[in-house]
Amino acid sequence: LQKSEPADSDKVSSKETLVVGFSQVGAESDWRSENTESMKQTFTADNGYELLFEDGQQKQANQIMAVRTFIQRGVDYIVLAPVVEAGWDTVLQEAKDAGIPVIIVDRMVDVADEELYTAWVGSDFQLEGAKASEWINQYLQAKGIHNANIVNIQGTIGATAQIGRTQGLQEACRANSNMTLLAEVPGDFTLPKAKEVMESLLKQYDDINIVYCENDNEAFGVIEAVEAAGKRVGSDIEAGEIMVVSFDGVKKDAMHYVLEDKISCIAECNPMQGPRVQAVIEQLEAGKEPPKFSYVDEEIYVHDETVPSVFVENIEYPVTVVTQDVID
Ligand code: AHR
Repeated sequence: LQKSEPADSDKVSSKETLVVGFSQVGAESDWRSENTESMKQTFTADNGYELLFEDGQQKQANQIMAVRTFIQRGVDYIVLAPVVEAGWDTVLQEAKDAGIPVIIVDRMVDVADEELYTAWVGSDFQLEGAKASEWINQYLQAKGIHNANIVNIQGTIGATAQIGRTQGLQEACRANSNMTLLAEVPGDFTLPKAKEVMESLLKQYDDINIVYCENDNEAFGVIEAVEAAGKRVGSDIEAGEIMVVSFDGVKKDAMHYVLEDKISCIAECNPMQGPRVQAVIEQLEAGKEPPKFSYVDEEIYVHDETVPSVFVENIEYPVTVVTQDVID
């Protein structure tokens, strides 16, 4: 896990600015914008960094090109937020050969040799999915609802956030007879795609009880589609409302929707990864070995107190009922 030039151990004192090349997925969601902000606020000139930022526009080819540009420019560190897990071996080998440490953030890479990257910082997406799905199960049990029909608007197929959250729901539907998975459709983590997909799901099924959205922006699109179809979103499934469950917990809109009962539950995905990446770089600069994997802390936000806490694999996760104070 050392940088490939350990002899350069006096780098901190001999060099004033560390150059960090950051290849971001894109700007597909509010979460992504907050994540970009966290990096930009961390890697400032005042903190001793120069940040080279590249927006991949959700295309892996753009991100590979960005990493190659960073290698050519001889940056000190490459930070990569990969759009999907597969397909990184070659370019990460090129970075390794050039002696540039790569820190993966947010989603993971699926590579044959884990030594191709130095460290990873991000979320436990499968746990997020398990928490949201178990909240649904416990909510249905608490209300005495014996069956709910669920549709899943998935994220970008092949992204760790999609894989983990989809898996969490699939496992819960297999384990609990009160949860029926009607359909799984990709929504690309965006509002417009999710809205379009939800419009056609509403035409296809007239008995949808719960929409599991793999991020907040998808939830926004789903809410628009449901309301445009003359139906109501909300937690009162027995009264015919369609329940929306989501991921992220972006401050601006999503938390207000929880307050208003347009979204019933959000499993948080924490975008504030900049300081954690900086901690990894500082450890490397000090000649120490950072942890290979660092998980960010995440909460569960809900509209009401029906489910006091969620149990996943015998671990209790408290829920936070959203009030205006929580948002402020
Ligand atoms: O990988 C994290 C996910 O990507 C967030 O949940 C989503 O909003 C973003 O687009």
